[in-house]
Amino acid sequence: MRHFLSTEDWSRDDLQAMIERARAFRDSPQGEALKGKSVALMFFNPSLRTRSSFDIGVHQLGGHAVMLDAQGQTWPLEFEEGAVMDAGPEEHVKEAARVLSRYVDLIAIRCFPKFQDWTAEREDPLITAYAKYATVPVINMETIVHPCQELAMMMALQDRIGDVRGKDFLLTWVPHPKPLNTAVANSALLIASKFGMNVRLLIPDDVYRLDERYMGAAKRFCAAAGTSLTVTTDPQEGYAGADAVYGKSWGALPFYGGWEAEAPYRAKGAGFMIDEAKMALTKDGVVSHCLPMRRNVKIADAVVDGPDFLGIEEAENRLHVQKAIMERLITEAGS
Ligand code: CP
Repeated sequence: MRHFLSTEDWSRDDLQAMIERARAFRDSPQGEALKGKSVALMFFNPSLRTRSSFDIGVHQLGGHAVMLDAQGQTWPLEFEEGAVMDAGPEEHVKEAARVLSRYVDLIAIRCFPKFQDWTAEREDPLITAYAKYATVPVINMETIVHPCQELAMMMALQDRIGDVRGKDFLLTWVPHPKPLNTAVANSALLIASKFGMNVRLLIPDDVYRLDERYMGAAKRFCAAAGTSLTVTTDPQEGYAGADAVYGKSWGALPFYGGWEAEAPYRAKGAGFMIDEAKMALTKDGVVSHCLPMRRNVKIADAVVDGPDFLGIEEAENRLHVQKAIMERLITEAGS
């Protein structure tokens, strides 16, 4: 039984097939893949897009969504193997995953890292445990990667610029008052490199390099495609001739759990907002963001409100690609 935890586990052909199916769903939204079936949507963190698009997607496929607010309305969960549960969590994921699997046909989970200890959190312990103990497929709705967002982004890019192979993709760190999850940045690296783009990472300082697991994967994908992965701290170099720009902010991993010391490095990126002057350096590039997005901090109004901004299409695509993912998993599981 396959899960949808990371695009690393799926071939490019599989992912492209899901995008094509998503395009078919865009033209003809109704389906029957989930007729008589139920999907648990478990949220440990807030959401606008993921929550609504999964709920509506399940409905359009004929199924029933069970919305589980895991921050207060379900039991706090333990996921350590062999834990002595004499404090804190009331329930172990071993029971929760197996019980939910008796009720529903798919389990989708959003669980951001706790920003305490990257060494532990980079193992993605909660969703990994769910995938281990559930007897139905598990979908990642954003943990330390955001694979549904990846497909939505790639679908939007292909719709706008055609075949992306050999095109130049810039992933730029953008300012934000707080350190954020690296999930979307990790995912942007993975999908752009897997789909054959030249990938540039623009960061204010080397401390903003992403985890080696994702840098290494992107390097391998680029090597296989004959493209390049480059890292720069120079915005001129980063934007020059780019076909697509993706903005995201994240916290520097060396300061994980001790963010005060990150402040001077974050200040180095004060001028990294995506604006018209930077976009003028691109090759008539398009620009996107996963949303939510702080206007005039991450991306300037003139860019967001301009014709090259793909963020709304990308958000719409979440609905279509997630239906394709659910249909694929349920079909493969044969339930
Ligand atoms: N992009 C995204 O996942 O949006 P939400 O956090 O609103 O779900």
